[in-house]
Amino acid sequence: PHGAVSMSVVGCGYLGAVHAASMASLGHDVVGVDVDAAKVAELASGRSPFFEPGLGALLVDGTRAGTLRFTTDPAGAPGATVHFVCVGTPQRRGENAADLRHVDAAVAQLLPQLKPGDLVVGKSTVPVGTAERIAEQMAAVEPAATLVWNPEFLREGHAVEDTLSPDRLVYGVPEGAAGERAVAVLDRVYAKALAAGTPQVVTDYTTAQLVKVAANSFLATKISFINAMAELCEATGGDVIQLADAIGHDARIGRRFLNAGLGFGGGCLPKDIRAFMARAGELGVDQALTFLREVDSINMRRRVRMVDLAREVSSGSIVGRRIAVLGAAFKPHSDDVRDSPALSVAAQMSLQGADVVVTDPQAVPNAAAKWPDLVFETDLATAVRDAELVLVLTEWPEYVALDPAWLTPLVARTRILDGRNALDPARWRAAGWTYRALGRR
Ligand code: UDX
Repeated sequence: PHGAVSMSVVGCGYLGAVHAASMASLGHDVVGVDVDAAKVAELASGRSPFFEPGLGALLVDGTRAGTLRFTTDPAGAPGATVHFVCVGTPQRRGENAADLRHVDAAVAQLLPQLKPGDLVVGKSTVPVGTAERIAEQMAAVEPAATLVWNPEFLREGHAVEDTLSPDRLVYGVPEGAAGERAVAVLDRVYAKALAAGTPQVVTDYTTAQLVKVAANSFLATKISFINAMAELCEATGGDVIQLADAIGHDARIGRRFLNAGLGFGGGCLPKDIRAFMARAGELGVDQALTFLREVDSINMRRRVRMVDLAREVSSGSIVGRRIAVLGAAFKPHSDDVRDSPALSVAAQMSLQGADVVVTDPQAVPNAAAKWPDLVFETDLATAVRDAELVLVLTEWPEYVALDPAWLTPLVARTRILDGRNALDPARWRAAGWTYRALGRR
């Protein structure tokens, strides 16, 4: 089709698989490249290796149409002129800094293939300064290829819609003609979103890299701010939900991302704010980000408070108590258990002697693989049977919609803790349950 671009996507994890499938759905010719043969085989057969609404259908459509292919061959996309780098940048073991080995490997793999006029487009979240270094490596090998830094802001569970209809497009480009040409090519890649009026910020590499970590730091700060207010509410008898509603009406503040509860987890916010602090330290400006250390501690304290609350409603001890934990994923509509607050609370209670059973609509296989010492159950009714306490720690719609009357005959005691402030307290209390939540009376 008119304006179609031939592209490769290096790294087919969360970001890459969604990006590749979404780009193919726009009519581009896409080859996804990954070192993991099992993942490549699954994607190539039109199946998603993880749970993400809408992704499966795009994979089926693209692979059937032949516009979306996957390969383990690093040279498997000879026709591609735009190369997206979508590999992960996990937290380094025992450190706060990001591990850049996958980025370095992806670049090393791309370098010998670059042709004049090609674009390398960095989407991975990296410590500021990485793009500048990659641009130098490229210049030494193929000076007529250009690097663009184009951060990705997708949320898990909404990854396809966020990719196809982003809030904004950010391009970090070099100055001069090469930069202008790069903007024109990326404008073709994102023609549909731009035509729909998506705001665009064209800037330098440094700013583009910072935008991503700044955005995630702000979101994490917003969550920890309201969770700090929840601590105040707990100490004073205030109600953090009404407080959030009231301050959220101020358009300068806004109500979104002010949901108090167990706090943030997942593969992005926790590791991104830690890597940002580590990078600031290297740059000699660690003081500028010391507040993020506080954001991180407030967040971790919520998990401790949740366990304390479980103890409080269990007459002072959870030892030997049967506790059902509803939710294992770090958030609903995802099977991702990376840094999951729910699993961290479940593990703490189990370590402290409680008899914990964890259930989740999607994440049980991933959770069981990562937490072999915890007990998992896929069936909700079995998970809650004879529970003396039920904890809702991930706000899946099916948990939010739970009918107290259905649950009552299954459990040993009608006590429920709402770790996400997602249930209706009046409904549970009217059904005779003891209902407690974080940050509310
Ligand atoms: C986040 C950013 O939103 C996204 O823009 C970026 O690209 C990647 O990181 P994601 O990790 O998918 O996306 O999840 P998000 O929806 O942001 O939620 C993060 C965590 O914060 C979850 O654990 C969620 O439960 C928690 N959260 C979110 C709150 O505790 N309160 C809120 O008000 C919002």
